[in-house]
Amino acid sequence: MEQLILKNITAGYPGKSNIISGINAGPFKPGVITALVGPNAAGKSTLLRSMAGLLKAQGEMQWNQKNILHLSLREKAALISYMPQYLPQDIELNAIESLISALKASSFDQISVRLPEARKKAFDVLEQMDLVELAMEPLNQLSGGQRQMISLAQAIIREPAILLLDEPTSALDLQHQVAVMQLVKEYAAKGKIVMMVLHDINLATRWSDELLVLHKGKIAAHGKPNEILNASLLASVYNVNAIVETLQSGQIQVHVESLIK
Ligand SMILES: Nc1ncnc2c1ncn2[C@@H]1O[C@H](COP(=O)(O)OP(=O)(O)O)[C@@H](O)[C@H]1O
Ligand SMILES: [Mg+2]
Repeated sequence: MEQLILKNITAGYPGKSNIISGINAGPFKPGVITALVGPNAAGKSTLLRSMAGLLKAQGEMQWNQKNILHLSLREKAALISYMPQYLPQDIELNAIESLISALKASSFDQISVRLPEARKKAFDVLEQMDLVELAMEPLNQLSGGQRQMISLAQAIIREPAILLLDEPTSALDLQHQVAVMQLVKEYAAKGKIVMMVLHDINLATRWSDELLVLHKGKIAAHGKPNEILNASLLASVYNVNAIVETLQSGQIQVHVESLIK
């Protein structure tokens, strides 16, 4: 079975070499949504950017027994899509053009993506996401939330086996947050691996199968929300007093009461 395993992943920046260090996690399995959570500056974006190949990292990212950590961006694009936390503002393409170019980025042989097919696929994705009215809008004239939706469309149009999303709901209103979470759930149900950074711990417990908790560049916990979330974990990772409640539905709800002094 296809699965993804992280072995001893270490990455950082000039002068800050071990922002994340010795990350061992997995296996991440098809159909499973993992929410990557943790305090500001824990290294969540650094981990996703390392996995996406945008940041040089040491270690292994095993996909079907093969280390894919050091594949070229083009080779990686056939397997992995990454949606960044901060979206570029200065893009003059319109939404459809941006989707067509996202589609081409994953093709080894660019000519093999024929324009009529690419355009149809781009419109199909917009339709699926209820965004058709944005098709001809230049990206630099969209609202932050609209741009975030188009950015998600760019990430899923390639239908990668591994989808990495960095705070995909940060600019979205409640309705669009739920729409995006539902879309992510449907995407995972096609047998895809999804890892997404979420700040809202209750959104994370509601919509993911597993939580991967990062703290100071290391994994503090990994597992099903009801197996790993408790007051002592939230105290040590977030420095807050919290109550973890199990609702009748089995859903986990976190109530944050106060800071630990
Ligand atoms: N481009 C960068 N150059 C130098 N340091 C960075 C850069 N990006 C992030 N960092 C540092 O790495 C640490 C982790 O950042 P990040 O992975 O963005 O955290 P998170 O996504 O969990 O909030 C922070 O201390 C941050 O200052
Ligand atoms: Mg981040």
